[in-house]
Amino acid sequence: MNAKPPAPGLSDAGEHQPTTAAEGDVPTPQALAKGLPPAASFDALGLPPVLVNKMTGLGVTEPFPIQAATLPNALAGHDVLGRARTGSGKTLAFGLALLARTAGRRAESKRPLALVLVPTRELAQQVSDALEPYAQTLNVRLATVVGGLSINRQQALLRTGVEVLIATPGRLTDLVSRRDCILNHVRITVLDEADQMCDLGFLPQVSELLDQIPADGQRLLFSATLDHNIDQLVRTYLHDPVPASVDRVAGSVTTMEHHVLNIHAADKYATATEIAARDGRVLMFLDTKAGVDQFTRHLRASGIRASALHSGKSQPQRMHTLAQFKNDEINVLVATNVAARGIHIDALDLVVNVDPPADAKDYLHRGGRTARAGESGSVVTLVTPNQRRDVNRLMSEAGIRPTVTQVRSGEAALTAITGAKRPPAGPKTSTGNAPFRGMGTRPGRPAKESRKTADARKAAEARAAARVRKGR
Ligand SMILES: Nc1ncnc2c1ncn2[C@@H]1O[C@H](COP(=O)(O)OP(=O)(O)OP(=O)(O)O)[C@@H](O)[C@H]1O
Ligand SMILES: [Mg+2]
Repeated sequence: MNAKPPAPGLSDAGEHQPTTAAEGDVPTPQALAKGLPPAASFDALGLPPVLVNKMTGLGVTEPFPIQAATLPNALAGHDVLGRARTGSGKTLAFGLALLARTAGRRAESKRPLALVLVPTRELAQQVSDALEPYAQTLNVRLATVVGGLSINRQQALLRTGVEVLIATPGRLTDLVSRRDCILNHVRITVLDEADQMCDLGFLPQVSELLDQIPADGQRLLFSATLDHNIDQLVRTYLHDPVPASVDRVAGSVTTMEHHVLNIHAADKYATATEIAARDGRVLMFLDTKAGVDQFTRHLRASGIRASALHSGKSQPQRMHTLAQFKNDEINVLVATNVAARGIHIDALDLVVNVDPPADAKDYLHRGGRTARAGESGSVVTLVTPNQRRDVNRLMSEAGIRPTVTQVRSGEAALTAITGAKRPPAGPKTSTGNAPFRGMGTRPGRPAKESRKTADARKAAEARAAARVRKGR
């Protein structure tokens, strides 16, 4: 691990980063006034020496700001509300505290001592992978329970006894209702992506789970966008929590460039396809599962190594796809918001919103898959004329001033910003027709074409594609 610590947030309001906090963010002026002062080093925290040795071996030598701010309080047993930008090390901020405070204790069968709740299966696996080396060093048993995988295996693991359980709410609820997991020995509970865990989709289940955990236990809530969504849960389940917000602006990742590309609707697929054909990796977000599947099929037919990730896929497929992306077996991951929160992929320098996100928080989390831990990266949002107003509003809510460029597929500006290239010619389809390469593209078309001709061609192709979609 050779990550650089993210620059402290309070002094990084650069040209592209206005200082207004995103709407609804927890106010922060007194954020660090309460609780213990930040730790200057990991040594100062009194962590077990074997743990510090392991951290050093893995390149974790200096605490990142959110770790320095929250670890003293979390290790002292206080409830903590931790907010820091994407990719700033929140996993170890709660993970080290949880492991250090659990080490030396033994869980009874089915009764974990610490619980981490996360919104997606991929994130559960990732948190588990991140904590596993430290857990092993401390002789802490760790298990992950998520939907889509064998519940019997998870039940068997719980029966042997695990100290730390990492779970998605749905599967944990199933295990609890089967009496395969009993939460009355849980002493530390973490909600990662806490604001999402408190939204309407999750809150009832999360509350039911928290109701079964002893009320005097410790709770740690973390997110890059810890907003008023969490208020009700904080009031009901936390005791005098220490708010630790090390970033004034939720989206203040200074190593991240933000681009809005204004495009014609008819040219959207062609533009997105050329971006996908770039040499490096790219994560592309679309709104719907059907949209993700359709676009992925189109990219593959265009000779681009792409795979789809969304909640409609089986869990083994989802895991396989993510692993393929991390191992460079595919260049392009096309995903719904299921990949927006928490997921860490090394050396990912471009995220593209093919469909603009629904709100500022979605934008920050999607974009936060790049430019992590001090690395640099770009977030590109494709915007058609009728989406401009909404995207402008979203950007100002996110506190972001993007660079706005009008582009068309095939233009040098698109290549300069994204590394876009002409896609390799795709295979012939079984019908013998050339595969659909997206609106506005055709294999073998000469590079030189006047704007007027290109517009007329693209409009005609868009009409043809619409006719195909309507089954005419
Ligand atoms: N103190 C540290 N020194 C070096 N690397 C670190 C340190 N802390 C964390 N990292 C690395 O930083 C990267 C990002 O960390 P992490 O995934 O915890 O970010 P995050 O704040 O949870 O982001 P998100 O909001 O997107 O969930 C990981 O690769 C992690 O291993
Ligand atoms: Mg995280």
